[in-house]
Amino acid sequence: MYPLNRNRRLRTSETLRNLIRESTITPNDFLVPLFVIEGKNNKREIQSMPNYFKMSIDLILKEIKILHSLGLKSVLLFAQVEESLKDNYGTEAINNNGLMQRAIRSIKDKFPDILVMSDVALDPYSSYGHDGVVENGLIVNDITNDILAKMSLSHIKAGADFVAPSDMMDGRVKVIRTMLEKEGCHNAGIMSYSAKYASSFYGPFRDALDSKPGFGDKKTYQMDIGNREEAINEVRLDIKEGADIVMVKPGISYLDIIRDIKNNFNIPISAYQVSGEYAMIKAASKNGWIDENQTILETSIAFKRAGASFIASYFAKDVIKLIS
Ligand code: PBG
Repeated sequence: MYPLNRNRRLRTSETLRNLIRESTITPNDFLVPLFVIEGKNNKREIQSMPNYFKMSIDLILKEIKILHSLGLKSVLLFAQVEESLKDNYGTEAINNNGLMQRAIRSIKDKFPDILVMSDVALDPYSSYGHDGVVENGLIVNDITNDILAKMSLSHIKAGADFVAPSDMMDGRVKVIRTMLEKEGCHNAGIMSYSAKYASSFYGPFRDALDSKPGFGDKKTYQMDIGNREEAINEVRLDIKEGADIVMVKPGISYLDIIRDIKNNFNIPISAYQVSGEYAMIKAASKNGWIDENQTILETSIAFKRAGASFIASYFAKDVIKLIS
């Protein structure tokens, strides 16, 4: 009690504040999302994500070399599929020579110690822009799962360390895990987007991959934004089905969910600071309304404080440059 206790004593110098800080960040805390496109020496800025680029495989390799030198050794891959290759079943997703599979192979060839996670979902491959097969205007769960399992196997065979299903179909972790075990891929990891909400923060990502849903929205598979208990249920099932890491997405608006999971389970949790969050911070700082560097440091630490093991973030490189 005051004046015996004065909390400000612990804040008197930077050294002391550093000494007692509970949550910190290092390069090991980041997973870097990368967007792969076809072509050679092909680099395109994502309009709604200033200074973030989609790159052809050759340039992705150069980028990974830079990331590697900064200590950023984990990447999460997304592929932009050409319009002519899209269909209702996402057939291109299981092409062993597809863009994603070639990207994985090239990265693992050149940088065996880079941890490669690959996105598994049909939306970039779907003519409807949905994460599942469409029948009579509905997203069909079980047929989709079978495709996701084949897609996962194809990524793992190309060399991916982890597959990251981001689709929110029921039971997909089990179907993927069963397939991987059956095929002898015992060390293949699954990072499940367990608590993925039907959020408006994904807009810039859908611009980047040209993957906006062609009709309706994603509310029959992604979670309702008002639900907290349901996230626990999703995570419990995913762990039972064989997930190694669970993810909460989007990020900053869902820190309560990260903490709930942390308090209820013993499993690594990843947080995803998504494209809309990136866009907001970029836009506000461009206008001089917030300090970009301080904001990206603050939000990164917030994820760790909430209980995340690591953060998928478009700011990973910027943050690491700031703290090194
Ligand atoms: C789709 C997918 C999305 C993101 C990752 N995978 C968008 C969506 O669900 O529509 C969003 C990532 C971001 O916004 O940064 N499977």
